[in-house]
Amino acid sequence: MRIFIVSNRLPITAVKGNKLDFKESVGGLVSGLSSYIDSLKGSSLNYEFRWIGWPGITISDDQKNVLKLELENINTVPVFLTEEVMEKYYLGFCNKTIWPLFHYFNNYVSYNGDYWNCYKYVNQIFCDTVLEVVQPGDIIWIHDYHLMLLPKLLRDKLDKKCKISFFLHIPFPFFEIFTSLPKAWRRDILEGMLGSDLIGFHTGTYVKYFLDCVYKILGHGHYMGNITLEDRVVNIDAFPMGIQFDKFNKTDIKKIEEFKTLSDYKVILSIDRLDYTKGLANKLSCYELFLEKHKELHKKLIFVLIVVPSRIGVDHYEMNKKVIDETVGRINGKYGNISWTPILYQFKFLPFEELLSLYRSSDVALITPLRDGMNLIAKEYVASRKDKTGVLILSEMAGVSEELNEAIIVNPNDKEEIERALITALEMDVTEQKRRNKIMQKHLQNYDVSVWANSFIDRLLLSDKK
Ligand code: G6P
Repeated sequence: MRIFIVSNRLPITAVKGNKLDFKESVGGLVSGLSSYIDSLKGSSLNYEFRWIGWPGITISDDQKNVLKLELENINTVPVFLTEEVMEKYYLGFCNKTIWPLFHYFNNYVSYNGDYWNCYKYVNQIFCDTVLEVVQPGDIIWIHDYHLMLLPKLLRDKLDKKCKISFFLHIPFPFFEIFTSLPKAWRRDILEGMLGSDLIGFHTGTYVKYFLDCVYKILGHGHYMGNITLEDRVVNIDAFPMGIQFDKFNKTDIKKIEEFKTLSDYKVILSIDRLDYTKGLANKLSCYELFLEKHKELHKKLIFVLIVVPSRIGVDHYEMNKKVIDETVGRINGKYGNISWTPILYQFKFLPFEELLSLYRSSDVALITPLRDGMNLIAKEYVASRKDKTGVLILSEMAGVSEELNEAIIVNPNDKEEIERALITALEMDVTEQKRRNKIMQKHLQNYDVSVWANSFIDRLLLSDKK
C-alpha cells in the first residue's frame, strides 16, 4: 500500500555550498516519522512510503532538477517555494501566527492578511503537488499546522478516491484562544482539517478543545469523537506519539571521550530546539536560584545546556537566543571560576551517538517547556537509561506529562517548585529511580513509535466506508 506523508519540512534539509549537500532535519515530527519508517525495515507490513515537502532551501531552476532527481532516490518529492513566499507563509503565518497562538503566546501573534493569503496559496501548491503523484487507493497522511487547509483542498478534488488523514503535532488551544483568529480564518482552518477521514492529536485534551471549537464555530456536534458531515464521518482521536524505544534502550555505544569528564559531576541535562515555548530563560533562572540557595553543591554538579538551532529569521527566536546567551554568560561569570563552570552550553545539533551518550551520562533531565505539543526528548531520556537510573523532571505543560506520571511533574513558571524538584531528584535513591523508570520504560516500550503510526493507519483504514 502506498502512503504519502505530506509535511512542510522533508526529513532532510538541502544545504547550499559548492555543491548540494544534505543534513538531517530537526524537530519532533521528522524524528518521529523518520524513526517509524526506519523501524519498518524488515517488518512484514507492506507499506511503501513517499514523503512530500519543502527541501529547506530556495534554488535556481537548474539546481531544482538535480535536487529532484537526488530526492527521488530516497522516495521524497520536493515542493519548491520562493524566498518571498517562505517569508509570508513559513516565517509569517506559520511561525508568527499559528505557532505562538497555539502555544498560548498571544502577545507574539501577528494578524496579517498577506500572511494568511500566502498560507492559502502554499496549501494550494501542496495540493497540486500531491495530485500530481497520488493514485486512487493511496493513503495521504498530512502533518502539522503548516498544512491545515490541505485535507479539504484534496477532498474537493479526490472525493473518496484516497483516504485522507491529518495529524497535529502541536497543542490545539481552547476556544477562547482559537477565536482570537479572524472569523473567516478560523472557519477555513476547521473546515480544512475536517476534509480528513481521521484527525489525530497527541493528547485527549487537544481532542476535547478541537471538538469544542468545531461545535461552537461550525455547529457540528460529535458522538464518541465522530463528526457526521453530509457526505462523510470524520473520526477524531488522541494518538500520543512514541519513540523507537529499542534504538535508545538497546544500542551499545562507546563512551565519547569528551564526555568522560562529566562523570566527575552530578549532571543535569537540558536539550531543546531553540524556541521561546521551551522556556529556556525560565529554566536558567531556576538554576540560578538553585545555585544561590545551594552553595554546598557548587563544583559538585554541572548543567549541560544543549540548544538546537531553529527558525533563524523569526524575531522572537533571535531575541530568545540573545537572552539565553546573556543569561548563561552572567550565571557562569557570577558562580563559576577557573576550575568550575556551572553551565556547559552548546548551540548545535547533536548526532545520535552523542545524544545517546549524553542521555546516559546525565543524572537528571530537566524538561520544562512553557507549552509543548508532546516533547519526545523526555521519552528518549527515559528510554536511554539502560540501567533504569536517572530522574526526569517534567513540565505539566508538555503533552508527554499526561503519559509519564512517574516523572517529577512541575509547573515551569514556579521557580521554587523546580528548585525543590532538583533537590528531590539529586537526592532520590537508586531504588526509587529504578521503580519509576521501570514503569515509564514499560509504557514507552508498549507504545513505541510503530504502535503510534500503525494504530493511526489501522484506524484510518477502518474509517467511514459509506
Ligand atoms: C515542531 C513542529 C514541526 C517542525 C519542527 C521544527 O516540532 O511540530 O512541524 O518541523 O518543530 O521546526 P521547523 O520550523 O524548523 O520545521
